[in-house]
Amino acid sequence: MPHAVLFVCLGNICRSPLAEGIFRSLVDEAGASDRYLIDSAGTGAWHSGNPPDPRSIEVAARHGIDLSTQRARQVYPDDFQAFDTIIAMDRDNLTTLKARDTGAKAQLRLLLADPAADVPDPYYGGPEGFDHVFGLVRKGCQDLLTDLERSG
Ligand code: 4NP
Repeated sequence: MPHAVLFVCLGNICRSPLAEGIFRSLVDEAGASDRYLIDSAGTGAWHSGNPPDPRSIEVAARHGIDLSTQRARQVYPDDFQAFDTIIAMDRDNLTTLKARDTGAKAQLRLLLADPAADVPDPYYGGPEGFDHVFGLVRKGCQDLLTDLERSG
């Protein structure tokens, strides 16, 4: 059974689409794509059905990662059973997830675990915020893959 990983932010248009795309590319590079199921979602539904924010698409494309086919969705109640690991981009969204968790299966955690830190919401800022977020998310995803491969 592949390990199912869900990345979660607020809108599922800026940070978690980047995490989904970056983690998938790291998994592909590691030749591990048959060992992971990867998705992303938002705790909010405002952008459901929409593609990622153009600024996320652009920064990912500069690093050779295509986000353009992703579409936003809200976290479903079933996700807590369907996914092994649910990764929140910040503490606010982790709190929201914990309040909705039925305790079914998924382990809930932050992307940047050490020290407990947020991937900041870049939505209302300029394009440089997306470069900063890209670097944080890539580091978090590298560490996550190392962790999961070790415990695997
Ligand atoms: P995300 O960023 O949670 O990284 O996708 C946001 C996108 C949209 C909004 C907030 C954050 N919004 O308020 O619409």
